[in-house]
Amino acid sequence: MIEKIAFISRIAGNIIREGFGKNFSIEYKTNSSNLVTEIDKKAESTIIEYVKKEFPGHGIIAEESGNTETESEYLWVIDPLDGTTNFAHGLPIFSVSIGVQKNGETIAGAVYDVMRDVMYSAELGSGSFANNRRIYVNENEDLSKSVLVTGFPYHIKDNPNRAIEKFGAFLKSSRAVRRLGSAAIDLCYVAGGVFDGYWEVYLNPWDMCAGNLILEEAGGKITDFSGEPMNIYSKQLLATNGKVHSEMLEIISRY
Ligand code: IPD
Ligand code: CA
Ligand code: CA
Repeated sequence: MIEKIAFISRIAGNIIREGFGKNFSIEYKTNSSNLVTEIDKKAESTIIEYVKKEFPGHGIIAEESGNTETESEYLWVIDPLDGTTNFAHGLPIFSVSIGVQKNGETIAGAVYDVMRDVMYSAELGSGSFANNRRIYVNENEDLSKSVLVTGFPYHIKDNPNRAIEKFGAFLKSSRAVRRLGSAAIDLCYVAGGVFDGYWEVYLNPWDMCAGNLILEEAGGKITDFSGEPMNIYSKQLLATNGKVHSEMLEIISRY
């Protein structure tokens, strides 16, 4: 199955790369920060058409077209273009993110970093890969030497979950904090040992389904902000190398 997930992620990525920097129509979703382009929609419809043909009857949750509920034990969780703001503004950091669940457990996922042409992938119990290279989280235990990454939901102006105070606290307690604009890539960069930790609130299932598996299969740790196990419907995500997890939880608990 992972070969087919990676195959269709790459096809969608080719559509996105072809559209990058060209003219495309843009619509607003919930507010003027929350965009969708015609390329998001084209990539998504291509993925869905493929899933329906290759895996008839499987359930689908996709960002731009909602849910196709079925009796199947399988569910495809699809973000056709993670990083739409970057894409629309000409910043080459965005991905295709596709996870597959069986009976509510993620069993396989791929995140295709389109402009770097890197396919991150994982299957439950079989480790994580960047192209064909096995990847692992890093071993850093010291938050003050960490480079962290985060993101903000489209209603950040309401400061949900005191996200702005948390951001300030991590700026003061780490070496640096980055905001790349693709949650799926953020997770893969923790999985590959680039970043030590990532936190965000109000992600959607399609932002993290594939990335969470990739991170866990690379040896990382994922919880909510209370340190409890989370799932793709949770509204809080802390994803780390495991070693800075408790220190990050302590800082989160202050706000
Ligand atoms: C967004 C990106 C971003 C994150 C937002 C997401 P989209 O996804 O992953 O990094 O901060 O919360 O909504 O809208 O570009 O698919
Ligand atoms: Ca997304
Ligand atoms: Ca998206």
